[in-house]
Order: sequence, then structure tokens, then C-alpha cells
Amino acid sequence: MENKAPLNILGISGSLRKGSYNTSLLQAAAELLPPGMALDTFDLSLLPIFNADNEKPFPAAVEEFRIQVGKADALLIACPEYNSSLTGALKNAIDWASRSPQSPLNRKPVAIMGASTGNFGTVRAQLHLRQILTHVGALTVPKPEVLIARAEKAFDGDGNLVDEAARGFLRDLLIALAGWTRRVLPA
Ligand SMILES: Cc1cc2nc3c(=O)[nH]c(=O)nc-3n(C[C@H](O)[C@H](O)[C@H](O)COP(=O)(O)O)c2cc1C
Repeated sequence: MENKAPLNILGISGSLRKGSYNTSLLQAAAELLPPGMALDTFDLSLLPIFNADNEKPFPAAVEEFRIQVGKADALLIACPEYNSSLTGALKNAIDWASRSPQSPLNRKPVAIMGASTGNFGTVRAQLHLRQILTHVGALTVPKPEVLIARAEKAFDGDGNLVDEAARGFLRDLLIALAGWTRRVLPA
């Protein structure tokens, strides 16, 4: 039988900067959420840089992050592009969450999206992110791809996503994430 409990989504922006387009993209997602979904966010600036000497125990912020990832029904990652790849902040968070015992990323449904000021809308970063998520056992929504190029035109000065086509792709991604998560969740 189909699981119709509300879906709790954890949103993660790979950019730490104030005024980040990717953080604004998460805000747009919160506004466009279909019924039956709720979005919380985790601020990656709380996490220290990964150090394998500091895993036993994990630092408190890391433990909290891992708990929140574990509790979420699915993740929504806004992935900026730095030098044709994902940001160090995002990779760092994945590295912390990937560690045993019981990585909370294993079999976690994930949707990815991204905004950049370049012409390719984070496509290269998202391809790297997909590869990493596959490695850690996450289950990444295949389509639609939300690739927002020339972000300074897609968002207004207040960080509102004003590009109608982008809003449509984002809406479709959220619907796809809901369907994907309900298929993957244990009954
Ligand atoms: C170190 C660095 C490298 C960047 N490399 C790329 C890149 O490879 N491709 C691209 O489209 N934009 C690149 N940019 C521009 C980012 O797309 C832009 O800074 C964007 O605003 C970052 O996302 P944010 O607004 O969420 O912080 C780079 C920016 C920085 C700071």
C-alpha cells in the first residue's frame, strides 16, 4: 500500500555565503513544495573540516548533522559549482555523513539542483555530486535536472527566483522527489 505520511525533507546548500543563489534556491523550493512535504535546512557552516582523527566521538555539530540526515525522509541539495566541481563545504559534509557506523546517506533518497553565474548552471558539479552520492549508497533522483545558469538573471535582488522556466523545473523536481521517496521508503 502507498505510504502517504508527510515527507520531511532536509535541505542543504553547498554555499556558505550570505546572499547565496543556492541558498535562495532552497528558499524557492520551500515556497513551491507540493502538499505533503515539509522542508528544514541544515547550515553547513556549523561543520568543522573533516579529520579522521576526530571521529570517535564525532564533533557535536557533526553528530547533529548525521542525526538530521538520518531522520529526514529525503535530502534536497543545492549544489554550487566551484572550478567545475562541487564546493569543499558540500564535499566535507558528505565525507562526515559517509562514515560508519551506519552512514545516514545509505539508501537515502536525494534530489539535486544548482545555480551558478556561469553558462552551464552547475552541470559539471552536479555530475561529480551524483558520482559521489552513488558511491555512498544514496539514491539520487535522475530527472528533471535543475540547472540554473546566469543566476544573477534568474533571481531578483532579494533572492527570489523569478525565472518562470526555472520555477517550473524546480516544481517538477520536488514532485519527482516525493514520488521517488515514496517508492524507496520502507512500507
Ligand atoms: C572559487 C570559485 C570557483 C568558481 N567556479 C565556477 C565554475 O567552475 N563554474 C561556474 O559556473 N561558476 C563558478 N563560480 C561562480 C559561482 O557560480 C558563483 O560564485 C555562484 O554565485 C556561487 O554560488 P552561490 O551564489 O550559491 O554562492 C566560481 C566561484 C568561485 C568563488
